[in-house]
Amino acid sequence: MAHWLVTGSNRGIGLELCRQLAARGETVIAVCRSTSEELEHLGVRVESGIELTDEAAIADLVQRLAGIELAGMILNAGILEGDGLDSVSAASVRRQFDVNALAPLLLSRALLGNLSRGSKLALITSRMGSIDDNGSGGYYGYRMSKTALNMAGRSLAIDLQPRGIAVAILHPGMVATRMVGFTGIPPAEAARGLLTRIDALSLATSGSFWHANGEPLPW
Ligand SMILES: NC(=O)c1ccc[n+]([C@@H]2O[C@H](COP(=O)([O-])OP(=O)(O)OC[C@H]3O[C@@H](n4cnc5c(N)ncnc54)[C@H](OP(=O)(O)O)[C@@H]3O)[C@@H](O)[C@H]2O)c1
Repeated sequence: MAHWLVTGSNRGIGLELCRQLAARGETVIAVCRSTSEELEHLGVRVESGIELTDEAAIADLVQRLAGIELAGMILNAGILEGDGLDSVSAASVRRQFDVNALAPLLLSRALLGNLSRGSKLALITSRMGSIDDNGSGGYYGYRMSKTALNMAGRSLAIDLQPRGIAVAILHPGMVATRMVGFTGIPPAEAARGLLTRIDALSLATSGSFWHANGEPLPW
């Protein structure tokens, strides 16, 4: 049985990813800070109490998952703080960088021992991290953190190529979750698109940046 790990699994896009993975028969390991009724309802394995910016919590997760071979990891947890030029603060940029860029890198490295040739690593980023696509400005902390995540994803793709592990850098679309005031496409549609991209991922396409709808995105 293939195990798939998903972070940010208690709500939003992560919850939908868990639901769809479970529905197609995968064994899901849902990582979250605190579980939710909807997640419990899925009947998947839940690893709660994992604050992803806490290195001790990541070490704890590594221990809990000892010996489990992962077919894939979808690192989806993220935060958005709507800062503009007047309101941006160092603390806000650091918070977003810690959650959106640093945590996925450290978690990927910490769980490398659970991945093997053929495993897949998917980083859920945002097209707001695309420099070429930025036509509206603002959102300093969010944009900077997602650009950094994209760069981490490209380096991971290069470093993990010899081990046969492919890396996807994926934008889910504008999705109706709490992060964006519940405007956008349904999370189920975004999750379907993301899983289609992850299924199509190979070592040949590793390290490239895609919209869940199948459109390649510029850096
Ligand atoms: N929604 C969109 O339109 C959109 C567009 C582009 C990219 N994205 C990306 O898609 C991903 C999922 O977002 P979403 O829309 O599903 O947002 P969401 O509904 O706000 O969910 C965010 C998830 O991340 C978790 N999380 C946040 N900080 C965490 C931390 N420090 N440690 C552990 N977990 C943490 C949250 O857990 P708690 O419940 O504990 O807070 C929650 O499960 C994010 O990476 C986001 O940047 C979303």
